[in-house]
Amino acid sequence: MTDPDAVQEFETVHVPLGDRAYDVRIGEGLITTAGAHIAPLMGRKKSVFVLTDTNVAGLHLDTLKTALATAGIATEALTLPAGEATKCWAQLEVAVEWLIENRVERGDIVVAFGGGVIGDLAGFAAAILRRGVRFVQIPTSLLAQVDSSVGGKTGINSPRGKNLIGAFHQPSLVLADVSVLGTLTPRDFLAGYGEVQKYGLLGDAAFFDWLEANGPALAAGDVAKRIYAVKRAIQMKADIVVRDETEQGDRALLNLGHTFCHALEAATGYSDRLLHGEGVAIGCALAYELSARLGLCSQEAPSRVRAHLKDMKTKCDLSDIAGELPDAEALVDLMAQDKKVIDGQLRFILARDIGDSFVTADVPRDVVISVLEDALRTRG
Ligand code: GLY
Repeated sequence: MTDPDAVQEFETVHVPLGDRAYDVRIGEGLITTAGAHIAPLMGRKKSVFVLTDTNVAGLHLDTLKTALATAGIATEALTLPAGEATKCWAQLEVAVEWLIENRVERGDIVVAFGGGVIGDLAGFAAAILRRGVRFVQIPTSLLAQVDSSVGGKTGINSPRGKNLIGAFHQPSLVLADVSVLGTLTPRDFLAGYGEVQKYGLLGDAAFFDWLEANGPALAAGDVAKRIYAVKRAIQMKADIVVRDETEQGDRALLNLGHTFCHALEAATGYSDRLLHGEGVAIGCALAYELSARLGLCSQEAPSRVRAHLKDMKTKCDLSDIAGELPDAEALVDLMAQDKKVIDGQLRFILARDIGDSFVTADVPRDVVISVLEDALRTRG
């Protein structure tokens, strides 16, 4: 069976990027029908090369292999260690050499089957192998479904900073199966939610209203609400990526909360103390606080952001991060490695209101310091 429409219902967001256009399909059980979705992309040679990690392989790899076999697709799989440390030169080499050893050709398909780490690494391996082979994203975390699997940013970390080595390489298809979100720990799910609420804040006040009303039910497992939220987030991301694929302008809006987040992740050693999505949530609250401090938005806006995050029972304050943090000056210094630095000037995503954000380099360092000092003071 090669017609995915014949298999089940799913939602589609099309990403119209000319000869690099692709669909993002969102629904329940898409992994069990992955073969039917992927087969139409293939020529006569029906085999795919799956890159995954130990956690995802244990839970879902057999299901994916069976689904591919049902559509007559043979699978080779490489399982890498789970965790952010895998996004490094050494594991990239393992992945690329494995693909070469398996004689992957230009027309073949690499499947990134995992969260953001696997998606970024597998996408980058596909980008550089034979100057670019096609790849399909099957994101298994909420964060990867609403953010990293869509838009073609691929890469690994340098010892000197996150995501500093990479390429833009768009996937040929994204399958966001919301069923797998049920296997995430509540903490991982809520970390992904940090990226979901970001979309409401950066450009859709009505979506943020909806999340305030429906977020707790969505976190509790309501599938229809999960599909709606994932689709809306992806639609917003696709619209921005189509306007600005290589981040010359508007795409930086997707980094709302990330300037603070990257400093906090560096300060906590990219460890379990702070997951990326948790850092995004705290970073959004700080970006709104900074916006209010600069007189750009009312004080109600940051209060509303924090109230919603508290309602969702996810991290929203620096006091939610266990252990020591550096002082405000040191945190601002950590922001300097951010990819949004242009001509040595740090850029922030600030807001005029909920759903109304913009990019600016016009932020006095002393105001950022004062926001961070106050936030650190609440840690006692
Ligand atoms: N995660 C931000 C972007 O894809 O541009």
